[in-house]
Order: sequence, then structure tokens, then C-alpha cells
Amino acid sequence: MSDDHADHNHHHNHEHHDHHEHAHGHDHDQGLAGMLRYLRHAPEMWSSEVNTAVVHRLAPTAGETVMDIGAGMGAGTMVAAKTNCTVVAIEPTPYMRRILGLRRLITRTKDQVYIVDGTAESTTVADGSIDAAWAVNTMHHWTSLNDGIRELARVLAPGGRILLVDESFDDPEHPDYERFGAKFGDEHEHHFHTVDPDAVGAALSDAGLTVTFAGHDRVAGRPSVVLEAVAPR
Ligand SMILES: C[S@@+](CC[C@H](N)C(=O)[O-])C[C@H]1O[C@@H](n2cnc3c(N)ncnc32)[C@H](O)[C@@H]1O
Repeated sequence: MSDDHADHNHHHNHEHHDHHEHAHGHDHDQGLAGMLRYLRHAPEMWSSEVNTAVVHRLAPTAGETVMDIGAGMGAGTMVAAKTNCTVVAIEPTPYMRRILGLRRLITRTKDQVYIVDGTAESTTVADGSIDAAWAVNTMHHWTSLNDGIRELARVLAPGGRILLVDESFDDPEHPDYERFGAKFGDEHEHHFHTVDPDAVGAALSDAGLTVTFAGHDRVAGRPSVVLEAVAPR
């Protein structure tokens, strides 16, 4: 999906952040204005090639329980639901959860789709219960990457796999660069923090996971920050 980066630039708080941790400048705090901003991006949040590619790469199977961290309107959740697995959609923003709830109702496997008020840092999910988890374009929202990764390590089942992707909208080769990323060059607008894959990779290793990829890669043809890891068996 395309993100709300342009919007971030307008309302993201102006605090200084270090590379790993940054404060919420979150749209879920923004009420109606935030909702309208997100609705502008509804087509990309409804379904996106990146989410489809991420879920296909994780290849959930029937009987597994998977988790979409910062599910938004369910672009990834709905792809996973088609595979007959149980899907836990973690989403802190109330109006996103309402949209997810409506989408769930028209899903064939709706009894296997759970919508949870939570964050990456606090999913509320039981220890060792998740076979695969992903996050698309949410890492830059996390209040603490370290806490999010500790939480991931806690909830993953033995051998559980994760894929974290943030599109690099600030890369001129990104197809949405003109739309979102070009603004990153403007000093006054530049409040968005690109996630450092090395730092996240190190945090994943520290949390006991085996990192299979940490770096820049294309996902559905889009330059992205990609982290792939598995939990020990
Ligand atoms: C740009 S949207 C991406 C939504 C979805 N993953 C997609 O690709 O369409 C970012 C989402 O992250 C959610 N979010 C904000 N803070 C979060 C946090 N701390 N943990 C998890 N998700 C968060 C927002 O509510 C929003 O739905």
C-alpha cells in the first residue's frame, strides 16, 4: 500500500528521536481528521501488492495461526484469511478496527479472523501462539522497535516466522516517490524516520531469533526495508 507519509509530515510530532525508538505521532490519536486522511488512501489500504506478496512469502497454511501487526483495513489479513488459517489482526486505531470488522463479516472464514485492539509493543496475544507474523508499513509507527521485537519473540511459536516490511518511499526508484517520498527532501517537512534494517536485525538477534534477511530489497517491485527471521525450534 501507499502510506500516509505525506500526512505524517504535517502532523507527526516534532520531537527528536533516536534511530530505534520514536514517539507516537499517530493517526489513531487524530480523530476525524486522521480518519479522513486515511480514507484518502483507502484503495491502497484495502488491498496492496506488497501485502499480498508478504503473505504469500510467509505461506500460511490451514491450521496455523498468523498475526498481522498494524493491520489497517486488512490488506494482508484478508489475503491470509483465504488460506483457511486463523488470523489475528492487531490494530490500535478504532476506525480501522471498525472497517476490519465490516470486512470480516463478508469473509468466508470470518470465525477464524480475530480483530484485536493492540499494538506491536503489546499485542495481548498468548505466549508461543503465533506461527507467522508480518507488519507492512507499520514499523515506523512503533513507539519502540525493541519492545515490538521483544513482543514478537514472546508470541512466536517454535519455528515461527516473521516478515517486517516498510516501503522506502524516500527512494527515488519507488513508484510512489513523487507522491509521498519527494517531500522527504524538504527539511521543513522531514519528520519521518526511515527504519534502519541493521538496527532491527540486531534487535531480532538479541531477542533470540535467527535473522535470514535484514536489509533493502524489493517487495512487489517496490524498494523496501525488509526483515525476515525465524524463532528457534
Ligand atoms: C500505513 S498503515 C498500514 C496498514 C496495513 N499494514 C497496510 O499495509 O495496509 C499503518 C498502521 O499502523 C497502525 N499502527 C500505529 N501504531 C502502531 C503500533 N504501535 N503498533 C502496530 N500498529 C500501529 C496504524 O493504526 C495503521 O493502521
